[in-house]
Amino acid sequence: MSTARAEFSSRFGFLMAASGSAVGLGNVWGFPTNAASNGGAAFLFTYLLLVFILGYPALMAELIIGRHTRSNAVGALQQLARGPASRLLGFVVGVAGIITVSLILCFYAVVSGWMVAWMFGSLTGAFGLEGVTQWLTTDATLRNAIFAVVFMAATVYVVRAGVREGIEKWSTRLMPSLIVIMGLLIVYVLTLDGAIDGLRVYLVPDFNRLANPGLIISALGQAFFSLSLGVGTMLIYGSYISRQENLPVVGSMVALLDTGIACLAGLLVLPAMYVALANGVQIYDAGGALIAGPQLIVVVLPALFETMGTAGVVIAFPFFVLLVIASLTSSISMLEVPVAYVVETYGAKRSRAVLVLGALITAICLVIVFNFGVLFDLVVMITTEYSQPLLGLLFVVFAGWIWNRNSILEELRQGNEGVEHSLFWKIWPFYVRFVCPVIIVAVYVQMIFF
Ligand code: PHE
Repeated sequence: MSTARAEFSSRFGFLMAASGSAVGLGNVWGFPTNAASNGGAAFLFTYLLLVFILGYPALMAELIIGRHTRSNAVGALQQLARGPASRLLGFVVGVAGIITVSLILCFYAVVSGWMVAWMFGSLTGAFGLEGVTQWLTTDATLRNAIFAVVFMAATVYVVRAGVREGIEKWSTRLMPSLIVIMGLLIVYVLTLDGAIDGLRVYLVPDFNRLANPGLIISALGQAFFSLSLGVGTMLIYGSYISRQENLPVVGSMVALLDTGIACLAGLLVLPAMYVALANGVQIYDAGGALIAGPQLIVVVLPALFETMGTAGVVIAFPFFVLLVIASLTSSISMLEVPVAYVVETYGAKRSRAVLVLGALITAICLVIVFNFGVLFDLVVMITTEYSQPLLGLLFVVFAGWIWNRNSILEELRQGNEGVEHSLFWKIWPFYVRFVCPVIIVAVYVQMIFF
């Protein structure tokens, strides 16, 4: 505990780690299919608006609190508290965030495990090893359990090496590769028959959908999940940023990278789905909606790759590598949340804390794998639709109502002299005080009553 607290070595390192956390499965399959089934560009538009008026301010709240307190979420919120009641609230919110993110990691590892299996499967398929390929790409409890464990082991391996040597090092290697792979795949897919229909579904707005209350709820959940908000992840990454950094600027870069990559993923996934349709693959479910979520990745796209012959073999492997990279840079940021708490609160050794917490989360993850039908959707729903936005609300309440305004300004001045005259300082305090809480509450009220 007495050793100096870890810090990212550079702005680039922080940007890669934070955008690595933000860019994940949520971007690659959540965003494109959500957009396609909610009016294409009408969803895109609502989403961008929500990221701008809600996501970015909430992200900034976590980054500023983190850098100021140099602590994990529980310690941080307690430091900002003004009395016993807000101290208790800080404790409850911080702990709820840790539990939520650990549970998110449990289901995330299940899905990421499938991606790892498919990644190997596309490779063995390319070499004509039919038996192994069949096993790797067939949904079965044993396979799912094995690959969830493999994925968790990789997560533990990276986090154990520490903030600079693990998280930063791997994120700066993996994120640029992700962008390059995605760019190449987009260019290729857009040359195929049917791709333009997908682009049309994605980019031509159907504004009638804006009236649909489900749209804004989907966009809100998507924005919180995608920016990794409400669970202390961005807070802990913020606590590793140097005091020389200009926080509003680096925060906006993270939001832009995340949103930009989500939009790019749309240019890959939707055209690919319509290429699949042109090749005779079923892309709508029984209710007539576009197939989304896990089904999309492990049914529709593989069926597409199959119809493409050799070209399919060539693109399947990079596609799954892309997904595994996106997952891993997110999962390490999730595991860091409980790890930082245990290390800082109980003075535990980092490597031991990572192993014990990693094992515990893997065990819960296996419980989900073995009771998939009952637990999977339930855990996803509780963590991402309820817990995350509600906790996100409480984080902004801390920044807007409980934390002293002057001390926020002091923190922002470091690395950004004159911030008090900036547009950011004119708008942000008002946003976290009023706009963000009101929008989140309004969305919930609408969800409950309509
Ligand atoms: N943002 C990640 C994604 O889009 C998920 C995530 C949620 C990461 C919460 C960390 C914390 O997939």
